[in-house]
Amino acid sequence: MIQGKKILLGVTGSIAAYKSLLLVRLLIRDGAAVRVIQTPASRDFVTPLSLATLSKNPVLSDLFAGDTWANHVELGRWADIFVIAPLSANTLARMATGLCDNLLLATYLSAVCPVLVAPAMDEDMWHHPATRENLRRIQGYGNRIIPVEKGELASGLYGDGRMAEPETILEFIKTTLAEKSGSLSGKKALVTAGPTHEAIDPVRFIGNHSSGKMGIAIAEELASRGAEVHLVLGPSSQVVDGAGIILHPVTSAEEMHQICVAEFAGADIAVLAAAVADYTPVEKASEKIKKKEDRLVLELTKTKDILKTLGGLKKPGQTLVGFALETTNGRSYALDKLQSKNADLIVLNSLRDEGAGFGIDTNKVTIFGRDGSELAFEKKPKQQVAKDIVDTIVKRLYA
Ligand code: CTP
Repeated sequence: MIQGKKILLGVTGSIAAYKSLLLVRLLIRDGAAVRVIQTPASRDFVTPLSLATLSKNPVLSDLFAGDTWANHVELGRWADIFVIAPLSANTLARMATGLCDNLLLATYLSAVCPVLVAPAMDEDMWHHPATRENLRRIQGYGNRIIPVEKGELASGLYGDGRMAEPETILEFIKTTLAEKSGSLSGKKALVTAGPTHEAIDPVRFIGNHSSGKMGIAIAEELASRGAEVHLVLGPSSQVVDGAGIILHPVTSAEEMHQICVAEFAGADIAVLAAAVADYTPVEKASEKIKKKEDRLVLELTKTKDILKTLGGLKKPGQTLVGFALETTNGRSYALDKLQSKNADLIVLNSLRDEGAGFGIDTNKVTIFGRDGSELAFEKKPKQQVAKDIVDTIVKRLYA
């Protein structure tokens, strides 16, 4: 996941700088290209020679060397990710205020890639209100902060402020890069799509107009990002682009329910886009019903609610997404479904909106999140809607 990635490592003045050497070794071991920028103060803690040798690249430190200007803009654009580890209280304060009196800060200000910081300082400095405020500010600028650890500090005191271990920083780097690329490799996803057919007799059924197009587009989008996708598909005439998709064809709501319960264990993501029949005949005639009577009464019973069942089984780390197809009061029904089915996201589409709903190639959705978020999208082709839905899932997954 980190092979071939370009990692810019910023090292600032802190005792924890010795761990930067280990971090560089881990990054090089995993095949990353590493360039290091040191602040002048950090050279008292770890030498440029050590960092240059391990990173296999010259270490940069000065904005000007002789009559040469170090191109911080080029560095900021070269990197896939900029990691500042350790981050001292001093550099943190400068980042928070936008000061740029060294190469590391100038590069930070011009970086267009994600920035990760691993603070390191003594406990009292860590808890100082100025530090708390500076952290809040740089977080507000979109930087990701790797939490400090509790332990023995350089002062001899015990408490908060130790820089995270290099292995932990490596995990944060991998997660951030995966999030940036939208990669879902190693993740398992369960998707339902299409209608269900509830048999009345061997030749007749109760069904609906769902084509399966929306759910299939979501399954294909998840697979294109590297997820192992299990698509539980009701009767549909659509052709599925099979790469990375394990297809489970089903007919009835009961069959769909059984497969979903079995596959949900071990799934990271479940998107239930199927238009499952809410009712099924109590009796399924074994022979074709003959038209003897003028009136025929069918007794129906509720099917099992798959979304609700999975909501009850959901474990931390699993993301459950449901759909709501409404004709009126869409927003309030969607919000109700988030709660009543314990879903993380509900995708609302209204049959009242032109270009939304069954059978057609476009959709217009609003995605409601458990965190109170509400994202309204324009009418788009279903493939594009699938991208928006998967982007929202990925953001939540790596938040
Ligand atoms: N769903 C499900 N199992 C069912 C019925 C619905 O998993 N037996 C899922 C759908 O796939 C969708 C969501 O529940 O993700 C919403 O379905 P919908 O039919 O709109 O809502 P209901 O909960 O059935 O409520 P109502 O019919 O009253 O709107």
